[in-house]
Amino acid sequence: MTAGPLLRPRRWRTTAAHRRLAAETRLAPADLVLPLFVGEGRGDATPIASMPGVVRHTRDTVRAEVTRAAEAGLGAVMLFGVPDHKDAEGSGAWDPKGILNRTLREVVTDVGDSILVMADLCLDEFTDHGHCGVIGTDGAGRVVVDNDETLDRYARMAQAQAAAGAHVVGTSGMMDGQVAVVRRALDDVGRSDVLVLAYAAKFASAFYGPFREAVDSSLGSDDSVPADRSGYQQDPGNAREARREVRLDVAQGADAVMVKPALAYLDVVAATRAEVDVPVAAYHVSGEMAMVEAAAERGWIDRDRAIVETLTCIRRAGADIVLTYWALDAVRLLQAGPAGGRMVW
Ligand code: PBG
Repeated sequence: MTAGPLLRPRRWRTTAAHRRLAAETRLAPADLVLPLFVGEGRGDATPIASMPGVVRHTRDTVRAEVTRAAEAGLGAVMLFGVPDHKDAEGSGAWDPKGILNRTLREVVTDVGDSILVMADLCLDEFTDHGHCGVIGTDGAGRVVVDNDETLDRYARMAQAQAAAGAHVVGTSGMMDGQVAVVRRALDDVGRSDVLVLAYAAKFASAFYGPFREAVDSSLGSDDSVPADRSGYQQDPGNAREARREVRLDVAQGADAVMVKPALAYLDVVAATRAEVDVPVAAYHVSGEMAMVEAAAERGWIDRDRAIVETLTCIRRAGADIVLTYWALDAVRLLQAGPAGGRMVW
C-alpha cells in the first residue's frame, strides 16, 4: 500500500462538529444592520417590485419592524425617509416634522437604547433633482453639486437627526469634508454622544438601481443637472483612492467607515480593515440582493445558502458590520443552525 499524503486538510471537514470548530468566520445577528424605507402614507406598507421581500414602510408599520429587529438582536437599523414633497435644496431633511425625523422620534421612543437606530444623512431622497446635494456652479461655470453649500445642509440635517434621537448618523453623500462638518455640528449642540458612520468609499455603482425605485429617486429626470453621481461617488476601478477617502474620514473623526457596494469591492473592504482601527462596515446593496432574489425566483440558485454564503464572505473579507436587507432572514437561518440543516459547511 502506498503511503498517502501526510498532510490532510480534509480532516477538519470530517463532520459538522469538526467544521464548527475549524470555522474562521462566524455570523451573528449583532453584526447585521437592517436598512428600512419609510414613506409618508399611513396604513399598510408597499412592496418594492425590484427588491423582493423589501417594503416601503409607513410610520405605522415601521415601528413594529424596528421592534422586531431589536428582539432579533440585530446590531442596528438604518432608516431612509421617502418624502412626498421634494425641493431644490432638500429642506425636508432638516425639518423636524420631515418624514425621516418624525419616524426617528417615534422608533427611538419605542426601542430606547435596546438597538442602535441609524439615520441616512444625505439629501438625495429630499431633492427634486435627486442629487445628494444642492446644485450650483463651480469656478469655471460648470453645473455641479456644490460641495460646500451642501455641507451646510448636512450640518443642519445632522442636528435634526440627533434631536430626533438617532444614535448614529450615516454620512452617505460623498462630499469632501462632510465628516468633520457633521462632527462639529453635533458637538456644537452638545451631541458628542452621536456616532458618525462614514460612507467613506462609496462607488458610483450600477448596483444601486433598485434602491432608486425604493426611494422614488428623481435622479436623471432633470436635464439641467448632471445625469449621474460620478462627480462625487468614486470610480469603481479606484482602490488607492478608496484608501485615501477612508484615511480622510478617520482623520475627520469617523467612528466607523463603510465600503459600498460590498461584493465587487471585497478587496477594498480588506484594505480598509488593514488601514484603520475603527469598525469597518460594508453595505450589501439593493442590486446585489436583487440578483440573488431574481435567480432564486427562477429556481437557479438556493436562496438560503446564497444568503449565508454572501454575508459570511463579506465578514471574511474584513467587514465587522454588514448592512443587508436580508438581516432578519439571516437571523432565521442562523437560528436554524449554521447549516440551516441544509448547508454544506
Ligand atoms: C444615497 C444612497 C444610495 C444607497 C443608499 N443611500 C445610493 C445612491 O442612490 O447613490 C444605495 C443603497 C442600495 O442600493 O441598497 N443616499
